[in-house]
Amino acid sequence: FPSPAAIADAVAAYLAERLTAQPATRLGLATGNTFVPIYARLVARYRAGGFSFVRAASFNLDEYVGLPAGHPASFRAYMQAHLFDHVDLPAGKGALPGVEGDIEAACQAYEAAIGSEGGIDLQMLGIGRNGHIGFNEPGSPFDSRTRQVDLAPSTREANKGDFPAGEVVPPTAVTMGIGTILEAREIVLVAIGAAKAEALDRAFRQEASPDCPASALQSHGRVTIFCDSEAAGALA
Ligand code: F6R
Repeated sequence: FPSPAAIADAVAAYLAERLTAQPATRLGLATGNTFVPIYARLVARYRAGGFSFVRAASFNLDEYVGLPAGHPASFRAYMQAHLFDHVDLPAGKGALPGVEGDIEAACQAYEAAIGSEGGIDLQMLGIGRNGHIGFNEPGSPFDSRTRQVDLAPSTREANKGDFPAGEVVPPTAVTMGIGTILEAREIVLVAIGAAKAEALDRAFRQEASPDCPASALQSHGRVTIFCDSEAAGALA
């Protein structure tokens, strides 16, 4: 696509078309800067009418561990602000991984909840500069499941801007595993800007390796990449 705006339009249109055709779609959702304009355009399309989230359900990829409930940099707060507060997704149908109490039990419960909804139909992904998907950092096994993980220093640095000055980015998070992600029936990966070019190249032009978690997607039969020419640079 020629510009980030064109990508956001196209991805929002893709989601709106899917929800129009299949209102009970089980979505896997991502956060991050990439998805801010996508959700804005999806909400605009929703307001214009023609589709609904009332029969849908969603599962987010990840959430920080250790932030107080309602913290503005939590992914729950992000999802409420950018999507959930503006559409008719029923309360309780927009799930994020549990990060309180017994985290291992919460991870198993998240996997079970995805299963009880019949699995994820359409998984949205961004990509980290280091090739991460969700918070599966380099070295994550391709068969990993939802679990607590340490964040790479580069990821904590990249996400610093989401936190109030003086606050540190939590060192750990809960993320769906790569194995969890690969079970989605369809995957859409969105990459914008030159900062993502090397990661895209390593993910899709080089041999798959846990050194680049997104390269696990090579084994999935139905992945669509939405990117701009800068991110595609190394692929061109
Ligand atoms: C977000 C997530 C991450 C981001 C990735 C890119 O839920 O799981 O993998 O998609 O870090 O982030 P941005 O879009 O901020 O460059």
